[in-house]
Amino acid sequence: MSSQNAIGVFDSGLGGLSAVKEFMRLLPNEKIVYFGDTGRVPYGTRSRETIKKYATQDAAFLMRHGVKMVVAACGTVSSVAGELLESSLPVPYTGVVNPTAYTAVRVTKNGRIGVIGTAATVGSHSYKLRIQRLMPEAQVFEQACPLFVSLVENGIIHRDDQITRLVVRRYMAQLKENGVDTVILGCTHFPLLREAISDYMGEGVTLVDSGYETALYAAKVLRERGLLSDSTETQSPSFYVSDTPEGFESVAGLFLGRDMEHTVTQIDIEAY
Ligand code: DGL
Repeated sequence: MSSQNAIGVFDSGLGGLSAVKEFMRLLPNEKIVYFGDTGRVPYGTRSRETIKKYATQDAAFLMRHGVKMVVAACGTVSSVAGELLESSLPVPYTGVVNPTAYTAVRVTKNGRIGVIGTAATVGSHSYKLRIQRLMPEAQVFEQACPLFVSLVENGIIHRDDQITRLVVRRYMAQLKENGVDTVILGCTHFPLLREAISDYMGEGVTLVDSGYETALYAAKVLRERGLLSDSTETQSPSFYVSDTPEGFESVAGLFLGRDMEHTVTQIDIEAY
């Protein structure tokens, strides 16, 4: 395995860009191959079998690019198919649950931690189990927020958008009432709604971004294994999706702050 190979990152759609953004800041000389399964998003409402099948195909697509590490920048995949990927891939693998739970435990002061994610993630209790292993006295409050994924995929993410504010209030009210001081954005789509969520929860609540934490952790793994590239050139990520690229290009461009027109390639993920 060469350190010059790319890092493979995937998600059901746009969410994994929260990890890519951090990779680009932290490791600008690394090649990134990103796959967003926009033809089959959302994953979070699907059965465990289907999520495992999709995750296996997504990882196989990245392996075809000779990646040196696979990052499931997706809370749903990490929660449901993490063990399967970890045991079957020939390269280092990380999902988002462990690095994110670890940070939440480190930053909470009152031990009351909220976890928001997709229905599949919350149903698996992956974050809760991990947190309670690290901090047995923690109180964990979980909330599934499936509509957040649709808001993000459709670019309805602005903090002043009435629909965004309404949905945020609907999902977050109970957590606010429960007095959490830390909220895990346990689905990688949710950091794109960070400002709206923060406006509602208030300054005293720390939001832990699963995409960001995972990129930090993956960088550490690569460094420890001597797998960081020694290139001195700034690299541009390669983006692939499984449906038409246009919608992805415009929201991704907004989020990453770059012009993405005609930079995304459509592939047939069912072939993997
Ligand atoms: N971004 C994903 C996650 O972190 C998946 C959202 C979905 O496809 O439902 O869970």
